[in-house]
Amino acid sequence: MTPETTDTQPRHFLDVDDLSETELLAVLDRADEYKRAVEAGEDHADLSGQTLGMLFQKASTRTRVSFETGMTQLGGHAIFLGEDDIQLGRGEPLKDTSRALSRYVDAVMARVFKHENVEVLAEYSSVPIVNGLTDDAHPCQTLADLLTIREHEGGFDDVSAVWIGDGNNVAQSFALGCALTDVDLTVATPEGYGIDDDVIERARDLGGDPTITADPVEAVTDADIIYTDVWISMGQEDERDVRMNDFDGFQVGSDLLEHAPDASVMHCLPAHRGEEITDDVIESDRSIVFDQAENRLHAQKALLSWLLE
Ligand code: CP
Ligand code: NVA
Repeated sequence: MTPETTDTQPRHFLDVDDLSETELLAVLDRADEYKRAVEAGEDHADLSGQTLGMLFQKASTRTRVSFETGMTQLGGHAIFLGEDDIQLGRGEPLKDTSRALSRYVDAVMARVFKHENVEVLAEYSSVPIVNGLTDDAHPCQTLADLLTIREHEGGFDDVSAVWIGDGNNVAQSFALGCALTDVDLTVATPEGYGIDDDVIERARDLGGDPTITADPVEAVTDADIIYTDVWISMGQEDERDVRMNDFDGFQVGSDLLEHAPDASVMHCLPAHRGEEITDDVIESDRSIVFDQAENRLHAQKALLSWLLE
């Protein structure tokens, strides 16, 4: 299936619910095909001659390298645009940046602070805008997460996933992804760190019904997937002391895993060992974090080729 577009409006991917369930599954299936093609060494230059602009206001390892490598493997090209390397860093409005980039490149992936910044980019862009992480959402991560869950669990039926820790950008997009794929989700966060109410509403609109709790042990009992992320996201460094105190008891360590003997452990990375997750858990055979990291490549290639075809 191909993306539905109008003559004037490209499709954007600002959060997971920009895709229908059918479209999401089509992207995941395409990701499987690309993964097989890479493993078999088969040529798949589906974006030959196309260029991706990659706008970054925040640091990145996986997002930057997987998008750039992905474009190379698809026969295209990617340009790294650090905020301070372009006129945006000297005050050029985002709406002008977006219109100018649209005249050169075929799609833009943007990692920014405020979510409204990707919305402005999309409003003024004549090419697809892909959210590479905002303060509120990380939908490309969710594509890789769902691909990883499907690989490890053999499908989405009867899978129960638990999010532990901060109800942050990664958690919010994951909640929408679980709702779209009917993965049963429990979210365990300290008081005041939950997923935003509007995201819960959007998940419910998609047919999800996340269970909300502040009890990590109750949450993980008999889970298939346990997923965590840092307690201090990029831009929250000043809140470190308060957060370290508030998240006490939410660490994914071997004690907690005793309550979920069959669970695999996920983390979007980068991890802060000794904070939200212990070193022994991330290095254990329960950990599927590097499969997740690899799947960023395959999932994003699928998304780009689907958006650009
Ligand atoms: N998971 C993720 O987005 O990693 P980077 O910050 O390294 O891109
Ligand atoms: N929640 C983290 C994810 C990094 C990939 C952050 O926003 O810093």
